[in-house]
Amino acid sequence: MNIDTGAGPGPFAADLHAALGRSPKAISPKYFYDEAGSRLFERICELPEYYPTRTELALLRAHAAGMAARFGGRVQLVEYGAGALRKVRLLLDALPCDGVQFVPVDISGPHLLAACDALAGDYPDLALQPLVADFTRPHTLPPCAPGARRVGFFPGSSIGNFTPAEADAFLRLAAGELRGGGLLIGIDLVKDPGLLHAAYNDAAGVTAAFNLNLLERARRELGAEFPAGGFAHLAFYNPAYRRIEMHLRATRPLELRLGGEVYPFHEGETLHTEHSHKYTVAGFQALAARAGFKPGQVWTDPNRWFAVLWLEAPGG
Ligand code: AVJ
Repeated sequence: MNIDTGAGPGPFAADLHAALGRSPKAISPKYFYDEAGSRLFERICELPEYYPTRTELALLRAHAAGMAARFGGRVQLVEYGAGALRKVRLLLDALPCDGVQFVPVDISGPHLLAACDALAGDYPDLALQPLVADFTRPHTLPPCAPGARRVGFFPGSSIGNFTPAEADAFLRLAAGELRGGGLLIGIDLVKDPGLLHAAYNDAAGVTAAFNLNLLERARRELGAEFPAGGFAHLAFYNPAYRRIEMHLRATRPLELRLGGEVYPFHEGETLHTEHSHKYTVAGFQALAARAGFKPGQVWTDPNRWFAVLWLEAPGG
């Protein structure tokens, strides 16, 4: 198995300096996912309060055949933000085993490699071509086999991390590279704010550890210095934007040192670490249509907490 390291993950040090220098302070959530962060995220997916993973897995389990039927015979399946590669197995099991080329794209190289090793062990005949890359930036996918359609898979409501403008930019990029195929995408739906609040403020504190790992990573990788207990996890639903916001909040006035720079925080000041946008099915379909997709079938659970959407990418 060849690992293409592409352009590599984004420049953490430069982005963290920029994040701490702006007002309000804010950084991309992609920096959560070093090895420790990727492991913590997998634990989040198992939490009783965190409904998205299990709800989406149930949809994939129940409807994999119907989803695979949209793809057509020969496919190059491209998973954006591959993670543990658990969900895609349900699709692979529903596809004819020959003629499937699988391209998982992930920013975390070691994590992707480990997940691919496990997948290759269970699917020895699968043509597996992992790509270590930041899929929000221009990247080059391996060529599609002759006669194959390229189909994107973007589960987990990861698109919720993007603002609507960023989601539009990603969908336009995807509509281009998936031309003639389509995109199967999971989205988290607007719901009771109490349920949302619980999902991002779990009793076991795993989400807090995941959020705080961003600064622990800066300490490990970049030698950042800040007082122990200086930051606390903050997550709340912002109804005006229909999104969960996660922040790291200074528990008292403090200084964060990074590469010779000193960044003061006043008490209560936050570093904004994540958006998790929630959509309605119709609202998301309208966004996808503006970006060049033709919305197709929708699969949703009885509570309507989560939806998996098929979007055709016209052209060829
Ligand atoms: C991976 C972006 C879908 O927004 O629910 C989970 C990340 N953050 N708990 C989400 C996350 C805190 C997750 N996504």
